[in-house]
Amino acid sequence: MAHIAGLGALDVGDTTTMRSRANAAAIANHPTDESASRTHTGRLLTSCQTASMVNRPDGDQFHFDPATYLETIREEVPAYDELQDAVAEATASIRAERVLELGVGTGQTSRRVLDLHPEAELVGIDESAEMLAVASADVAAADLRVSRLQDPLPEGTFDLVVSALAVHHLDGAGKADLFVRVADRLRPGGRFVLGDVVVPDDPADVVTPIDGVYDQPSAIGDQVRWLAAAGLDAEVVWARRDLAVIVADAVLMPPALARTAKHDR
Ligand SMILES: C[S@@+](CC[C@H](N)C(=O)[O-])C[C@H]1O[C@@H](n2cnc3c(N)ncnc32)[C@H](O)[C@@H]1O
Repeated sequence: MAHIAGLGALDVGDTTTMRSRANAAAIANHPTDESASRTHTGRLLTSCQTASMVNRPDGDQFHFDPATYLETIREEVPAYDELQDAVAEATASIRAERVLELGVGTGQTSRRVLDLHPEAELVGIDESAEMLAVASADVAAADLRVSRLQDPLPEGTFDLVVSALAVHHLDGAGKADLFVRVADRLRPGGRFVLGDVVVPDDPADVVTPIDGVYDQPSAIGDQVRWLAAAGLDAEVVWARRDLAVIVADAVLMPPALARTAKHDR
């Protein structure tokens, strides 16, 4: 039995996998949607919404099934492990005592980051208590909280903020808003490492199945711009087809001042 902040005790075995009526409705409403078809590769549903989806009693169906997650995501994102390693590697040069992770899932990213920063305290959020229950077995010391990316971020200052394959669930405005809130949590000289599926320049590089509804990737250029607008110095450090890792450093001045300075240029 795992205990997760925001939910209390949870029996992971209680989760069930099934295609939900709500999701079927989403499919019916979007099969010819231009914005969806521009990026998807033929399948309308991703691992989030088929084998890996959990039907919750509260009616909120867009959740992964932790039992099938790793197998399915590795099938759908062939460079999944390389992406995870690249995210962790991008954190290596930062002295990290406090780490915030956004979209922890089953803890694949957390474990790699903590391997490099064994003394760090990791605070992680995810909207899925079921995923966090699995993560808590792997990264037992982490402070895991059921919370959405759209919610206020955990209080305090962090040396590192990391996120893998989660931020693409927000639309463009949601990402830009999140990046400002991330910048406000970073200490001067701190770092945000974002690994995610992106809209590649060349449509032939679309590999990951995207539904355009739950998955809303953005172009790298847009994300670098939104990070800069948040007062962070952003740079792409790894890219493979429709995956990328962006490092965004907090300059040595408070982010609100950095944003003003950029605005005044
Ligand atoms: C593809 S998984 C990635 C998990 C992990 N970072 C990894 O790389 O394996 C996406 C995770 O983001 C979470 N998620 C999706 N939308 C979210 C939101 N709006 N707020 C918080 N978590 C969200 C899901 O519950 C899921 O655990």
